[in-house]
Amino acid sequence: MAVFKRLSSSFPVSLLISFCAVIALSTASFRVEFAPPEIMALCEKSINHTFCLNFLNSTAGIPAADLLGAGEITLNASLHEAQDTRNYVKTLVGQTTIDPKQKQSYETCLDNYDVAIGAISEAKASLLSGDYETANIEISAAQTDSDTCNDEVKGAAAAAAELVERNDYLFNVLDVALVITNKLAG
Ligand SMILES: *[C@@H]1O[C@H](CO)[C@@H](O)[C@H](O)[C@H]1NC(C)=O
Ligand SMILES: *[C@@H]1O[C@H](CO)[C@@H](O)[C@H](O)[C@H]1NC(C)=O
Ligand SMILES: *[C@@H]1O[C@H](CO)[C@@H](O)[C@H](O)[C@H]1NC(C)=O
Repeated sequence: MAVFKRLSSSFPVSLLISFCAVIALSTASFRVEFAPPEIMALCEKSINHTFCLNFLNSTAGIPAADLLGAGEITLNASLHEAQDTRNYVKTLVGQTTIDPKQKQSYETCLDNYDVAIGAISEAKASLLSGDYETANIEISAAQTDSDTCNDEVKGAAAAAAELVERNDYLFNVLDVALVITNKLAG
C-alpha cells in the first residue's frame, strides 16, 4: 500500500493522462490499418502494399488461416481469376468485327493464359507438397504471362482496357502469393 501510494503520488496526473492518450492513439492508428503485424510485414515485401493489405484482409478465409493456408487460398483465387480471364479473352478472339492485328494480339493472350493456368496449377501442387522454391518459379512464370499479354494489348483498343485491368489484377494477386511462398521458403 505504501509503495503504491508513493508511486501514484510521484506520477503527476497530467503525465498519466498523456500516457493514456498515447496508448489510445497508437491503438487507433493500428485499427486504421486493420492488419495484424504479420500481414503488414508480409505486404511490405510486395510490389503493391495497398493491394496486398486489402487482399489479405478481405479475402474469405485468409485472416483466420496460417501462412500455408493463405498461400493456397491466394493461389486458388489466382487460378480462378486466370480461368475467368481466359474465357474473357476467348470472347474477344471470337469477335467478328475485330481487325486481324488485334485478333492476333488476343490470340497471343489466349496462349499466355493457357500457360499461366498451367503454371498456377503447378505452383499450387508444389506449395501443397512443400516445394516452395518451385512454387516461386511457377508463380513468377505466370506473372510473366500476364505481363506479356499486357505488352500485346496495351493501348491497342478500347476493348483492351478491361483486359489490361485483369492482367494487372492477376499480377498483383500472384505477387501476394509470391511473398507468401518466399516467406515459407524461409
Ligand atoms: C495498387 O493497388 C491499388 C489497390 O488495389 C490500386 O488502386 C492501384 O492501382 C495499384 N497500383 C499499381 C501500380 O498497380
Ligand atoms: C480490413 O477488413 C475490415 C473488415 O472487413 C475493413 O473494415 C477494413 O477496412 C479492412 N482494411 C483494409 C486495409 O483493407
Ligand atoms: C482451393 O481449391 C480447391 C479446389 O477448388 C479446394 O478443394 C480447396 O479447398 C481450396 N483451398 C482452400 C484453402 O480454400
